[in-house]
Amino acid sequence: MRAVLDYLAANEKRHTADLCTYLRFPSVSAQEKHKPDLRTAAHWIADRCLELGLETVTHETAGHPIVVAKTQPHDPKKPTYLVYGHYDVQPPEPFDLWTSPPFEPRIENGNIYARGSCDNKGQHLAHLNAVEAYIRTSTPLPCNLTFLIEGEEEIGSTHLYEFLPIHRSLLACDGVVISDNGIPSLKQPSLTYALRGIVALEVRIDGPSRDLHSGIFGGSLENPALALCQILAGLRDRKGRVDVPGFYDDVVALSKYERAQMAQIPFNEKQYARFLGVPELSGEIGYTANERRTARPTFEINGLTSGYQGQGSKTIVPAWASAKLTFRLVPNQKPTRILAALKRQLKALCPPSVRMSFSDGHVGEPYLVSPKGPAAQAAVRAITAGFGCEALITREGGSIPIVSAFKRHLKAETLLVGMSLPDDNPHSPNEKFSLEAYTKGMRMAAYLWAELATINH
Ligand code: BES
Ligand code: ZN
Repeated sequence: MRAVLDYLAANEKRHTADLCTYLRFPSVSAQEKHKPDLRTAAHWIADRCLELGLETVTHETAGHPIVVAKTQPHDPKKPTYLVYGHYDVQPPEPFDLWTSPPFEPRIENGNIYARGSCDNKGQHLAHLNAVEAYIRTSTPLPCNLTFLIEGEEEIGSTHLYEFLPIHRSLLACDGVVISDNGIPSLKQPSLTYALRGIVALEVRIDGPSRDLHSGIFGGSLENPALALCQILAGLRDRKGRVDVPGFYDDVVALSKYERAQMAQIPFNEKQYARFLGVPELSGEIGYTANERRTARPTFEINGLTSGYQGQGSKTIVPAWASAKLTFRLVPNQKPTRILAALKRQLKALCPPSVRMSFSDGHVGEPYLVSPKGPAAQAAVRAITAGFGCEALITREGGSIPIVSAFKRHLKAETLLVGMSLPDDNPHSPNEKFSLEAYTKGMRMAAYLWAELATINH
């Protein structure tokens, strides 16, 4: 391990430069115009794997390529782990809120600023760098590793879902390792043992066949924008709970132990509110902010559109209104059951004077794994060693829906060993990744394979 860690220390500058190169590809999966940039990003990471002697194949799909790279030689006596990451990134817009251009990485105060830096290029590159350290120091890798790097995570992983069942034997493993999540701080690294699930849908209200003069016609017909607002408001009760029959039926309550663990993470409400730019925090009554954002289900309106949006005023009753909605789910809520219940309730709230229609978006199951199992405990030891501080166990609010597909198709549980910090701004302007988290993340990744090799598989 000494040689591996020394190698990582000696190569810090180059590893930072490599990350900068990777971040310069504007691999925005949501935008058609960036299709060529996704290809170049995929080929860049595939070439990095090839240079290290990994058996690497870039699989074409009807969407963006999927890179699979395996360490050599495959030793059947060693356990095999699958390391998953994604080279696609969120759209950078709005550009004017970025301090420097999103695809021109900037290093300032120990952070690297660029879209995709923490979510997720920096985090999976840290894993590859740790493997590089083993290979370049001729230190035998304690586990066989398969890297699986896709380009559609931010748009729902459509082609990876098709790829998984077809390539079961290629991807066969004893467990999956993902760093696409966060830790409370560098002094409080953690193993994430739960993620929220998600249900997304768009609801549209259609009223008159065209926008109408609100003076001549207003009052004689329903206003679709108002109807939509009242319907959506009806989905949240006074306690901040989702007001849909059956919504909470399958929710697993937080245990006393979990609440105590969560309470250990210092949390300053005022500071947090300031960071978010809100006058005060808000949410479901009876839960702390950390519980609300990680272990309780929620309803969010992600987008709301209707009527005249141009300069000045226009006195109309708009012809239609629409909203993009997401619901974060917690163990053991079932996305398809929840989706059906939501549509039923939306229909029930809709007045007969307008028409309602839906289009479905992503669904992803919530994830929960015991933090006490042998692999999880091995990960806790690796995190503690890599970061030099006692690892906590945490739940997180984000979703990585492919995790439940790994469980279904590969029969493998996932270890979530995040490196991102709470102020990294994923999906927001000025996304960053801490260079200290990058360095410590590489050390953690190096320890992880040694720790995982010690347990019974
Ligand atoms: N890295 C995130 C997921 C994440 C963030 C997990 C923070 C844990 C903590 C991932 O890239 C992401 O953004 N996922 C989407 C999934 C959606 C598009 C189905 C999400 O959570 O919104
Ligand atoms: Zn993301």
